[in-house]
Amino acid sequence: MVTDGKILMGKGEEQVFLIPSMLNRHGLIAGATGTGKTITLKVMAEGLSDIGVPVFLADIKGDVSGTALSGTDSEKMQGRLTKVGINPAEFTYHGYPSRFWDVYGKGGTPVRATISDMGPLMLSRILDLTDVQEGVLNIVFKVADDKGWKLIDFKDLKAMLTYTGEHSKELMTTYGNVSSQSIGAIQRSLLTLEDAGAEQFFGEPNLDVTDWMQTDKDGHGIINVLHCVELYQHPALYATFMLWLLSELFEVMPEAGDADKPKMVFFFDEAHLLFNDAPKVLVEKIVQVVKLIRSKGIGIFFITQSPSDIPDDVLAQLNNRVQHALRAYTPAEQKAVRAAAQSFRPNPAFKTEDVIGSLGTGCALVSFLDEEGVPSIVQQAMICPPQSAMKALDDAARAQLITMNPLHDKYSAAIDNESAYEILNEQKQKADEEKKAAEEAEAAKKQEEEAEKEKEKEQKEKDAEVLREARLAKAEATIKNGGRTSRKRESVVEKGLSSAARSIGRDVGKQITRGILGSSHKTVEKAAGSLVSNLLGGLFH
Ligand SMILES: Nc1ncnc2c1ncn2[C@@H]1O[C@H](COP(=O)(O)OP(=O)(O)OP(=O)(O)O)[C@@H](O)[C@H]1O
Ligand SMILES: [Mg+2]
Repeated sequence: MVTDGKILMGKGEEQVFLIPSMLNRHGLIAGATGTGKTITLKVMAEGLSDIGVPVFLADIKGDVSGTALSGTDSEKMQGRLTKVGINPAEFTYHGYPSRFWDVYGKGGTPVRATISDMGPLMLSRILDLTDVQEGVLNIVFKVADDKGWKLIDFKDLKAMLTYTGEHSKELMTTYGNVSSQSIGAIQRSLLTLEDAGAEQFFGEPNLDVTDWMQTDKDGHGIINVLHCVELYQHPALYATFMLWLLSELFEVMPEAGDADKPKMVFFFDEAHLLFNDAPKVLVEKIVQVVKLIRSKGIGIFFITQSPSDIPDDVLAQLNNRVQHALRAYTPAEQKAVRAAAQSFRPNPAFKTEDVIGSLGTGCALVSFLDEEGVPSIVQQAMICPPQSAMKALDDAARAQLITMNPLHDKYSAAIDNESAYEILNEQKQKADEEKKAAEEAEAAKKQEEEAEKEKEKEQKEKDAEVLREARLAKAEATIKNGGRTSRKRESVVEKGLSSAARSIGRDVGKQITRGILGSSHKTVEKAAGSLVSNLLGGLFH
């Protein structure tokens, strides 16, 4: 609910308001399970929509989706309204303009990002790579960049990894060492992401985050709900998504300066997943983005169970705070409660640390920045009820709302444009075809040579036969002529010989025999030599 342009959030000693111009100073909603975090963020989102600020929410359990439906009155609600200083008669229940999104395209319009949008640093973090493997992933991106091959979808990344592995030797001089072990390790880590559905998340059309920054025809900010029920089952991909969104916002948004309200506010639920075992360099990056994005008019709220889930450097940037009840059984939890209490500006009326453990459902310690940017003294407040429904949307209503999203047609179908995978595939096909053609040519050549040899062999046999006949004829003639030779008969016989055999006859054992008979010249020469000498021997005997 909005009063004088400020978002009413609840009431402690007095009503507490979120000041729109202070929302780019970010915030935190923390508290144990079932203490009221989701409803608090719903109340904030409704107020933001009322003042024309679009919102993004991660819906982990599916219960945020009720923003699209009207809430219902009840005695309990009326009691709460009275406690927060709202006249129940003036409170209206209604749904808010909501659009549903889902990385898997089931509970909402698909949301996609490209691999190059993600970049090697974030991917390394998501894949939990070592420094060496991260170096290799950097090379993979660099090679693709230099070659002009786009890394869009998951198969592009896989194809590029294979390519880099196969060409590591030739790439080494320009890019450095790429070990096959590192490539293998990265490929194995990709399998986890693939199982999580990364093939659906990485691709085109990739989301233009500015498409989330819209208002409806009445000027209400659109509430963009990311259906995360399935995504949350895959923490690595969920963290990937959150990181990508942060970096995308940072890249895309222009400087906005001080404005009376933010351009958009993002609520990241289960934010601890973003920071779990996060390396220092990544936390530094997130701190940097959170700090700088403020001047771009973007507000970010992290939602998590305990503030201790969030690194101190990030926590220090979250100025609007709602702390629901925290349980403190273990020493670690007690420490976390103390830390949470100390992060508030103390209220002389109560001891913050004592109150955190005993807050009722839908009640919280609240401290928001005032118009001057000063954190208010902590209040123990009852949070307003939402105007939309506190239950989840049913499947039929969700399906209907998905198709009503005016951006659904733009994003519903995946597009597979030419990128690294297609180019490398084409190259491989070409190389395979060339190899096949070379093999076929080689086989044909061999066959030809065999045939040639066969022909020579037949000719040789024929010549031998003719020579044998000639010898016989000559011998017969000699007998008939009483030992004298016949020149005429000789030339007739010679006619029957091949040119090869004629040469043999003219100059036995000369080079020319080798030239004609090729590789087998030695045997042939020998055979021909002996044949002819036999013959001549026979003739001039
Ligand atoms: N401001 C509120 N107004 C009315 N009812 C509330 C309010 N806050 C909490 N409740 C009640 O408490 C229930 C639990 O709240 P909510 O779902 O917000 O808890 P949560 O902290 O998000 O829990 P979880 O960590 O399990 O997601 C709600 O379903 C609702 O019935
Ligand atoms: Mg919740």
